[in-house]
Amino acid sequence: MSAILPPSDRLWWKQPIDKVEWAWIGIAFVWGMIMFVMMVYWHVFGKQNLSNEVYRTTPEMFAAKAEKFIAENTVRTETDLNGQQIPVVKIPPGGEGFLIARLWNWYPILELEKGQTYKIHLSSMDYLHGFSLQPVNINIQVIPGYEHVVRMTPTKSGTYAIVCNEYCGIGHHTMLGRIYVK
Ligand code: CUA
Repeated sequence: MSAILPPSDRLWWKQPIDKVEWAWIGIAFVWGMIMFVMMVYWHVFGKQNLSNEVYRTTPEMFAAKAEKFIAENTVRTETDLNGQQIPVVKIPPGGEGFLIARLWNWYPILELEKGQTYKIHLSSMDYLHGFSLQPVNINIQVIPGYEHVVRMTPTKSGTYAIVCNEYCGIGHHTMLGRIYVK
């Protein structure tokens, strides 16, 4: 009944806080402080931090650099889910690669060598997309106007999928890219 009718004592909020309630406030506060310290700890010692840098760019500037990289390093082409021809581009060992996110593909397909360190440049041509590398679960928001530079050293060969994990419209679910590690 108490949820339907007003409390009989109208000034209930002036009652002193119960001991049990104080205990829970204390526990929540202490836990919050522990988590606050852990944020710094995980940043320094955690294994999920990306060594990335971010720069301002424009879609035109980024596309020009990516097209140059693609023109110089394409080894073959493959067809994606939308029936488009996507170049497969081999990044020179230790070199830099470019990856464009746009409605609705990741362009191009990148080919890497195991054990080499690469700098991958990422940007979006239109809207917000999400770079989610599977199955290793690396996540980066790809924002138009910003160029992310991510250092990567693949440790296992295989085919990795890039899933878009930011909803970007009707073709969002077809926005799948690939990275090959040989
Ligand atoms: Cu791109 Cu969802």
